Amino acid sequence: MSERLLDVRDLKIEIDTRRGRAVVVDGIDLHVDKGETLGVVGESGCGKSLTMLSLVGLLPNRIHTTGGSAHFAGTDLLRMQPAELRAVRGGRIGFVFQDPMTSLNPVMRIGDQLMESLRQHKRLDKAAARQRAGELLKLVGIPGAEQRLESFPHELSGGMRQRVMIAIGLACDPDLLIADEPTTALDVTIQAQIVELVKGLKQRLGMSVVWITHDLALIAGLADRIAVLYAGTVVEDAPAELLFRDPAHPYTRGLLASIPRLHGEDGARLSSIGGTPPEPGRRPQGCPFAPRCPLAEAMCHDIVPALAPLRGVATPHRVACHVANRVREAA
Ligand SMILES: Nc1ncnc2c1ncn2[C@@H]1O[C@H](COP(=O)(O)OP(=O)(O)O)[C@@H](O)[C@H]1O
Ligand SMILES: [Mg+2]
Repeated sequence: MSERLLDVRDLKIEIDTRRGRAVVVDGIDLHVDKGETLGVVGESGCGKSLTMLSLVGLLPNRIHTTGGSAHFAGTDLLRMQPAELRAVRGGRIGFVFQDPMTSLNPVMRIGDQLMESLRQHKRLDKAAARQRAGELLKLVGIPGAEQRLESFPHELSGGMRQRVMIAIGLACDPDLLIADEPTTALDVTIQAQIVELVKGLKQRLGMSVVWITHDLALIAGLADRIAVLYAGTVVEDAPAELLFRDPAHPYTRGLLASIPRLHGEDGARLSSIGGTPPEPGRRPQGCPFAPRCPLAEAMCHDIVPALAPLRGVATPHRVACHVANRVREAA
């Protein structure tokens, strides 16, 4: 029986605007088991980053968690005191962000940045922290790790900087590593290297990983399970292999259809989904995807579909769609 590490239920996040509060995350359900890698996929703006930031109390000003729960190893992160949360952040939960240039301090040596985190969370003395910092750089495959401790961020390539970010994320032996689009700024070859690195580290260190991306193809070989987000809700959640083989939600199908190489045939058409997701505060009344959905029926524009197990499958495959089951049965 797998053990649940993170269990997010019905998470709601709202933004203060001049016209009042606008909902950006509308009842997200997510979970991660021990040792599992969860891929979280969705178009830019669907609420991926805010969801993760809310868990560790790092939401920007004027953005608030207004509902739900987020149990981590049994304790609700959303109800923790700030001091407790600070200890969890960078301690039991490590973060890797998209852009190392803004996340690393440009005027501080790599080694000092790593040691700062180690000394704060692990209470290591200076010598021990320095040794551990060197080990961490080796662990993430940085050549000449010892000398690199003396480098400033701008002296490293983009890929090497991202490795440093991963080393910082791992510094405190986290139970959970949350990587928020960690390869988006990198070229394709380096992206693949970073994916392989995290895959290997995860196996060696036995941690759980949440990997956030807008690129479904990128996490095909990395995620055990994938949650597809659309406009601040989870529309499909399934073991990765199943999601690629038998996607149920029209949005997931659209995302997959826009990955030509998974559909193999010569001249595969690069289709993409027409239209754009709703702006915060302008969510439609029913299913948020209905205005763009090729299969939408009258009820889709009225009633929000719940995330529910797909009919007739033994594996945990959930979808939030009124017509998914009918379409599959007809096919
Ligand atoms: N600091 C902010 N101020 C106002 N609105 C924001 C801010 N950050 C995010 N948003 C809004 O919340 C939505 C979700 O943002 P985000 O979680 O960053 O999306 P994602 O990570 O999926 O690209 C965005 O579409 C944007 O409209
Ligand atoms: Mg983001």
